[in-house]
Amino acid sequence: MDITITRTQNPKTKPTDESKLGFARIFTDHMFIVEYDQGKGWHDARIVPYGPLSLDPASPIFHYAQEIFEGTKVYRLADGEVGSFRLRDNARRMNRSADRLCMPPLDENVQVDAIARLVDLDRDWVPGSEGTSLYIRPTMISDGCSLGANSANRFIYFVICAPTGSYYAEGMKPIRIRIEQRYVRAVKGGMGRAKTGGNYAASFKATKEAMDDGFSQVLWLDGREQKYVEEVGAMNMMFVVDNKILTAELGDTILPGVTRDSVITLAREHGIEVEERRISVSELYQAHAEGRLTEAFGTGTAAVISPVGELQYMGESIIINNKEIGPMSQFFYDTLTSLQRQKAEDTHGWTAVIPHFTKE
Ligand code: COI
Repeated sequence: MDITITRTQNPKTKPTDESKLGFARIFTDHMFIVEYDQGKGWHDARIVPYGPLSLDPASPIFHYAQEIFEGTKVYRLADGEVGSFRLRDNARRMNRSADRLCMPPLDENVQVDAIARLVDLDRDWVPGSEGTSLYIRPTMISDGCSLGANSANRFIYFVICAPTGSYYAEGMKPIRIRIEQRYVRAVKGGMGRAKTGGNYAASFKATKEAMDDGFSQVLWLDGREQKYVEEVGAMNMMFVVDNKILTAELGDTILPGVTRDSVITLAREHGIEVEERRISVSELYQAHAEGRLTEAFGTGTAAVISPVGELQYMGESIIINNKEIGPMSQFFYDTLTSLQRQKAEDTHGWTAVIPHFTKE
């Protein structure tokens, strides 16, 4: 697909203090857009200056939330180049979410190429210090002008990029998580495994209540029995019990995280046993009481590896690893970030260097 490029005439000032970036609060100079019309397919691919979209107030996105998104990152490499990590896996998952939300797929190669060209143009925005990256947010929304409550026939896919530091204010410090007992995130047959805005909107009330009580996030339980741990919205969860990693098995209700998959792959390669299965809260609390639950951590593109120092369920707290970063969390953080920055040998074909397509 041909992509036309219009460069900004008003480049923004780039942040100078990378330690203050936080998560995705400022955006680069350009964005990618491509449009879809039924009968015509995807058309008018372009990179343009970053700016507002103009949409009809009757656009279905505003009324029925037919929307999906992705999150991936590119990193500054030691030699100054820029590298991506498992970009194609995110493009593939975007299309699986599109299928669930009744939206048209966009060829994986087109997604990967568009992101590479956009990143190339804005490569000076990729920060370099430890723990930073350029966060990429591919998004697809429905568009048109009709309030009929059925799938739209016009869509927009766009990509924006944000120089980013740590997702949690705590950085790599272990966070407090409340196990949610009242609200649920997803049910069998629902859209929990799709990366769609509605799943996040549905989580805000519980998250706000938990944050008001000093927690960083909530850990969702299954929507039927409210017994089994699922995910934390912004990350999948891993528990180290008897030196094995336990994590919830994938299904209709859990986002198949790319970082989750990377950690499972790396763990098995390093001889660490991983069990993907249903894990009840009572199993975790019992393992903790017996001194067998030694670590817990979340995995996610934004969150990377995020150790959990405290879980609370129905007012009862357990402290994990003395609220310190455990050896497994540290090991996966170091291994993953070395791979992402291409400091370690990539035996999986997960990394790629962003080509220089454009001349200055
Ligand atoms: C990501 O890890 O990229 C996510 O999409 C999580 C997010 C909602 C901040």
